[in-house]
Amino acid sequence: MSKILVVTYSMTGTGARLTELLCRSRNWTSVQIQERHPRKAWVTLRCAVESLLRLKPPIVYNGPDPVQFDLVVLVAPIWVYRLASPMRSFVASFRDSIRRVAVVAVMGGKGGQNAAAEVGDILERAPVMSTTFTAREVDDGSYAPRLLALAAALEASVDMPGEIRPFVLSPESSG
Ligand SMILES: Cc1cc2nc3c(=O)[nH]c(=O)nc-3n(C[C@H](O)[C@H](O)[C@H](O)COP(=O)(O)O)c2cc1C
Repeated sequence: MSKILVVTYSMTGTGARLTELLCRSRNWTSVQIQERHPRKAWVTLRCAVESLLRLKPPIVYNGPDPVQFDLVVLVAPIWVYRLASPMRSFVASFRDSIRRVAVVAVMGGKGGQNAAAEVGDILERAPVMSTTFTAREVDDGSYAPRLLALAAALEASVDMPGEIRPFVLSPESSG
């Protein structure tokens, strides 16, 4: 059985809703990151400054060591075209414990692809899968089919035994 850990940071609840559906029918472990100093005043400005400067604010992660899992799925928002800073903190803190990673970014509409690139830079290896959803897709429910297909693909990527034999990839190469 695949061991998949879903780690979510969600400030306004969109990513958290997405994670709930992602994990509903799967036997996956789900943990939410909290900020050590919750944002009260100047919220948007703080988020923006941290993103622009690529800061790593202190976080609280009360979950298992990611090294115990075959795959870690990160769910996080985009802030100013970048990965939200608390998720940056998580990835940097657990850099050596994350073996394989997938990235799901939630956003208003722009910059989502930068999250996977940034995670890849920090870990020095590319995510096995990455995708983006807009807050509107999550709000109106249209995200569900694509998210469920992603969940199935993530599980298959971990559970598939062995390697695909060459003839499956190319009849010529099987000789
Ligand atoms: C400070 C800040 C900056 C943001 N910058 C972007 C952005 O560059 N591109 C974008 O598409 N959405 C941006 N958004 C919108 C969020 O990514 C979007 O609302 C997301 O769904 C929030 O996820 P959450 O509800 O899980 O926190 C920004 C939101 C905030 C608060």
